[in-house]
Amino acid sequence: MSMDAEIHKDAAREMWKTTNGTYEKVRPTHDRAAVQYLLRQLGVLDNDLCDQGPPFTYTVLDVGAGTGKCTSVIKDILGEDARLAALDPVAGMLDQLKVAVPGVDTFVSPCEDMPLPDNSVKAVISSQSFHFIANVTALREVHRVLVPGGKFGILFSVDDEASPLVHTVFEVIRKYKYPGCPEYFINTLQDVSWQECFTEAGPIFTPLQEHVMPWEKQGMLPDVESVVQLFMTFSATAREPEVREECAESMRQLLTANPAVEQDGGELEVPRLSALYWCTKNK
Ligand SMILES: C[S@@+](CC[C@H](N)C(=O)[O-])C[C@H]1O[C@@H](n2cnc3c(N)ncnc32)[C@H](O)[C@@H]1O
Repeated sequence: MSMDAEIHKDAAREMWKTTNGTYEKVRPTHDRAAVQYLLRQLGVLDNDLCDQGPPFTYTVLDVGAGTGKCTSVIKDILGEDARLAALDPVAGMLDQLKVAVPGVDTFVSPCEDMPLPDNSVKAVISSQSFHFIANVTALREVHRVLVPGGKFGILFSVDDEASPLVHTVFEVIRKYKYPGCPEYFINTLQDVSWQECFTEAGPIFTPLQEHVMPWEKQGMLPDVESVVQLFMTFSATAREPEVREECAESMRQLLTANPAVEQDGGELEVPRLSALYWCTKNK
């Protein structure tokens, strides 16, 4: 990854240090059916599966957990008996998580250097964060903390670019994005080069399996301003304040002018897909 791309990741983490409240407020949660599907693939959904295999400290570790959008859905599905942990390098994001999802152990740390023992986690999930941690060092760490036969799942909630609204906004973000920010920070389905780190890491995991599904209930936003606020939390827009303002204004103007961006009874639909991936730890 280029130096510009690394600088962009730092800029995004800086942005979240001060905007974690906005992130928590305007970002959607994840589609429950998709999280359930992934947990089933990871072998932690049914209680009887949890009881099998080598002992573990945590049932699920959510890496890049942020404010806990996915951790909360995982907790809701697995119930109080599951032992959950959440890890993120930005302490402010985890402060929001501790309020939103109490009872989860938290670790302020990057995925590349986790303060967890070897063979201690049944399943690791990266929810909407693997674009930040797609590197061999992070993959080796995930492999280290998983129990033998443990599984790694990746979830992306992808705004569906077949929608004129999403396409309009993505084109603006592409114009104003941080220099060197890879395309997969905007559309992970269009640019799958984030998967290359698995090949680079060698056969420490089985090949990635994939399933893409639409959200059961699509998101509706009340007006153009809410759409702009949502997409300005995208890390690709972590730029200087004047560039961010220009980017937001451009979104506002194009969304208002585009007849294809229909308002349904005053509301705007932001259609989403869940892109799910999973693999198993090899020896
Ligand atoms: C788009 S947010 C996703 C947060 C949350 N999982 C969700 O679904 O809303 C990406 C998160 O990845 C975290 N992150 C960035 N670099 C990371 C790294 N090297 N290791 C782990 N997490 C990282 C960021 O701090 C941020 O909280």
